[in-house]
Amino acid sequence: MRIIHTTDYKDMSRKAANIISAQVILKPDCVLGLATGTTPLGTYDQLAEWNHKGDCDFSQVSTYNLDEYRGLSHDDPQSYHYFMLKNFFEKININLENTHVPNGANPDAAAACAEYDRMVDEAGYPDLQLLGIGRNGHIGFNEPDDVFSKGTHCVDLTQSTIEANSRLFEREEDVPRQAYTMGVQTIMRARMILVVANGTNKAQAVRDMCFGPVTPACPASILQLHTNCVVVADSDALSLC
Ligand code: GLP
Repeated sequence: MRIIHTTDYKDMSRKAANIISAQVILKPDCVLGLATGTTPLGTYDQLAEWNHKGDCDFSQVSTYNLDEYRGLSHDDPQSYHYFMLKNFFEKININLENTHVPNGANPDAAAACAEYDRMVDEAGYPDLQLLGIGRNGHIGFNEPDDVFSKGTHCVDLTQSTIEANSRLFEREEDVPRQAYTMGVQTIMRARMILVVANGTNKAQAVRDMCFGPVTPACPASILQLHTNCVVVADSDALSLC
C-alpha cells in the first residue's frame, strides 16, 4: 500500500485525477471501477475539465460502479446512477451504454446481484478501482462484519452509514435501509486500487485501513494485501497515521 500525502481536498482531487487520467491515456479502452460519495466529486470535476481540454478521452472507457441503493430506480434523483450521471458521466465524452451501476430497481436481490457479477466478470474486472472510505471503514457498502464478503450482494446498512448518508437526503427516514454492493473479493480483483480520503472524520478509518489489523471489522483493511493499492489522502485524513 502506498500513501500519497496531499495538503488539502483540492490537492487530493488533482492527484487522484492525475492517476486516473494516466490510466485512461495508457489504455484508452480501460475498465474503471467508480465510487459515489462526496469525496470523489473533486476528482470527477478535474477529470471533466481535462476531458474538455482534450487531454483525457473517455470515448472507449467502460465503467462499473460499486453500489446502488435497493429500491431506487435509475432515474430517482437519490440513486447512485443519477448521481454518477449528473456529477460525472454527463460532463465527459463517455458512451452512456458503457456505464454500469447495479440495478436497484430490481427487487429480486439474488437476480440483481448475480446479473451485476456476470457483467463485471465479462468485462474482465476493473483496471483501476476508485474507492472512498466510510467512517466505519466500509468500502462500497461492505459494512464491518465477521467475514469478508465475496461477490455482489444485498446489505443492510448500519445506523452510522444511514446517519452519514442522510445529509444527501431531505430526512433520515428517506435513506434506503438496504443496498446492492460489489463484494470485497470483487473489489480486490481490480488490477489497481485508488482510495481517496479527506477530512478529520476519516482519520480513524484511514489509520485502521493502513496500519490496523487486517480484519472484516474494518473492511478497508484488506487493501493492505492488495499488490497495487494507492491511498491519496489529505493531511486531516492522515492526522492519526
Ligand atoms: C457511501 C458509499 C461509499 C463511500 C462512502 C463515503 O457509503 N457507498 O462508496 O465511500 O459513502 O462517502 P463520502 O465520500 O461522502 O464520505
